[in-house]
Amino acid sequence: MREQALAEVADATDLNALQALRVRYLGKKGELTRQLKGLGALPPDERRAAGASINALKEELEDALKRRREALEGEAVARQLESERLDVTLPGYGYPVGGLHLLTRVTNRLTDVFRSMGYDVVVGPELETDAYNFQKLNFPDEHPARDTQDTFWTEDGRLLRTHTSPMQVRYMLSHAPPFKIVVPGKVFRNEAVDATHEAMFHQIEALVVGEHITMADLHGAINQMARALFGPETKTRLLPTYFPFVEPGAEFAVWWKNPRTGRAGWLELGGCGMVHPNVFKAVGYEGVTGFAFGFGLERLAMVSYGVPDIRYFYGGDLRVLRQFRGEL
Ligand code: PHE
Repeated sequence: MREQALAEVADATDLNALQALRVRYLGKKGELTRQLKGLGALPPDERRAAGASINALKEELEDALKRRREALEGEAVARQLESERLDVTLPGYGYPVGGLHLLTRVTNRLTDVFRSMGYDVVVGPELETDAYNFQKLNFPDEHPARDTQDTFWTEDGRLLRTHTSPMQVRYMLSHAPPFKIVVPGKVFRNEAVDATHEAMFHQIEALVVGEHITMADLHGAINQMARALFGPETKTRLLPTYFPFVEPGAEFAVWWKNPRTGRAGWLELGGCGMVHPNVFKAVGYEGVTGFAFGFGLERLAMVSYGVPDIRYFYGGDLRVLRQFRGEL
């Protein structure tokens, strides 16, 4: 019985099995208990030795049960520790950090500059009427300048605005001069799409109206903006050109050194001029003068960030944007 009991204890694989063995051998009706109770039936001279050996076995068995229990418990703790193992030296999970789209950054940079120059930033609708996009900006029906700004029309005769200039009209109709505003936003043209043309792009437009505003103020504002963007050495130039809603009108360019390429040159930015008297007439303004200028943001963003194709801005390929994460 000793051999069998010790072998069974050694083979027990869990605490329940051990408890069953304890009951079987040492319990009230256990085998050893039964033998102890049977001592009385032995002849007196054998009782002593038999009692001693039963008690020795009882102790040995209790000891074996205890050690086996400790071993099983130790294994259980080890298993639990293993399953709850935590390597505090592992790097943590990185949370994805977004970034602003390049055009958003260019817009923010520009609106910051204009705010610092005292301009209010306002926005207008992308779906416009012919009156605001053309008529009140001195493009009458059949005016040839309309051909340069073909766009998308709705069936009820509205259109996707071709420039941010209609906001000039909207703002003047609802505000009294003097004021200085800047209008960023999306504009649309019916373009054959290629590396430098998209049917949707972005412009920013400035309008300043008050008494005695002159062309010198216009050039000064363009200089101030250009120097805030590109540094104090930056020069600008105005070349005469035609837009129906300004007179005189000009295109303007900025002489800048591209910090990415190290090359310097004229960057043709956009159009500008003194607000045409017919525009003031259309909004009911009298006794004031003003200037406006507007330009596209994509070209500026392309040269600033070295983006070779305008379509990358709208392709939604995160690899394009991730390159510039963290830049301002
Ligand atoms: N709206 C003109 C364009 O999109 C640009 C412009 C703005 C010209 C303001 C003069 C004054 O081409």
